[in-house]
Amino acid sequence: MTSTAAIFAARALPNTLGIESMGRRVAEIRSVDDLIAARRALSGDGDEVPMVLGAGSNVVLPARVDRPVLLMQIRGLAVAAKDQHSARLEAAAGERWHDVVRFALGQGLGGLENLALIPGTAGAAPVQNIGAYGVEIASCLESLQVFDWQAGRIEVWPREACAFGYRDSVFKRPEGRGRIILGLSLALKHARTMVADYPDIALELNRFGISSPQPIDIAEAVIRVRRRKLPDPRRVGNVGSFFKNPLITAEQADRIASSMPDLVRYQQADGRVKLAAAQLIDRGGWRGRVRGSAAVWKRQALVLVNGSGAGRADVLDLAAAIQADVAARYGVTLELEPQVL
Ligand code: EPU
Repeated sequence: MTSTAAIFAARALPNTLGIESMGRRVAEIRSVDDLIAARRALSGDGDEVPMVLGAGSNVVLPARVDRPVLLMQIRGLAVAAKDQHSARLEAAAGERWHDVVRFALGQGLGGLENLALIPGTAGAAPVQNIGAYGVEIASCLESLQVFDWQAGRIEVWPREACAFGYRDSVFKRPEGRGRIILGLSLALKHARTMVADYPDIALELNRFGISSPQPIDIAEAVIRVRRRKLPDPRRVGNVGSFFKNPLITAEQADRIASSMPDLVRYQQADGRVKLAAAQLIDRGGWRGRVRGSAAVWKRQALVLVNGSGAGRADVLDLAAAIQADVAARYGVTLELEPQVL
């Protein structure tokens, strides 16, 4: 029997926001065997459910974490099946997401190009249903390999079981507790209908005179746009968008638009309207504003950054001030996008 001490140790937790956070019991998971050993080491019956971290690129951590933490590092990338038109790509949870995108492009496979350069790991990507420039990962996901911590067994979950929504999935909800993503099966295509109509990307392709883009052209355009607008987490601590774009009723959107004619509106299939939270925040003059050790990114009002040694409270105080301001001016509630632990 493996002892807890042999697997779990105290160590600093990785997170792109750059918050100093100490995990009391942290284990690196490089294989399913490691996972089983960790489960046995904790209590054997799966009662104590650990928290799983990939790159920590969508979490706001406290200074100290007592709950056991698994650092997901299982690697593996392969084309599992292939025919003339399509292919199934298998990616293990510990792979860096952008490496998955690059691998797909290298195999001449389309589908992931709009999701280039999103920070984080493959295993974390379905949790918040990562999305950018008109595409969400849910659209390419065939199934997930999931470890049920409490039952101690591996299951295959078809996409439909994941209840994907805008930046949402079952893995964010109580039903997803203890369900650890081990790997992704992605359904990709050799020739794919590209999604290139998102304004930023259309402009970028136009600038380079590309009229019938291939997946690689879109990926390169996305990478350039992201590098221009979003801070590189290796240099400036951040978790990407700090708020979700709010979904409101058409009547509410009309009311706001009556005093803001250039209101950005994305019509949803269910009749609701999605607004650009960045625009509402920006109108309040928040872009670039510094508050203690936290700040609003100068080129994207949705992104909060860790200026210098911010703790969880600094970032959450700034977020709360922004939420209060947007609620007072527009009557719109902004939900936080990262998981606050
Ligand atoms: N805008 C402003 N001020 C700003 C930034 C943007 O007025 O400071 C306006 C823009 O002019 C545009 C609109 O707001 O009309 C939307 O901006 P943008 O296209 O940059 O996208 P976003 O809605 O702010 C979302 C995602 C990003 C994703 C981009 C591109 C969410 C919460 N965010 O941002 O995802 O990269 O679209 O697809 O859905 C993330 O989730 O971490 C993330 C970065």
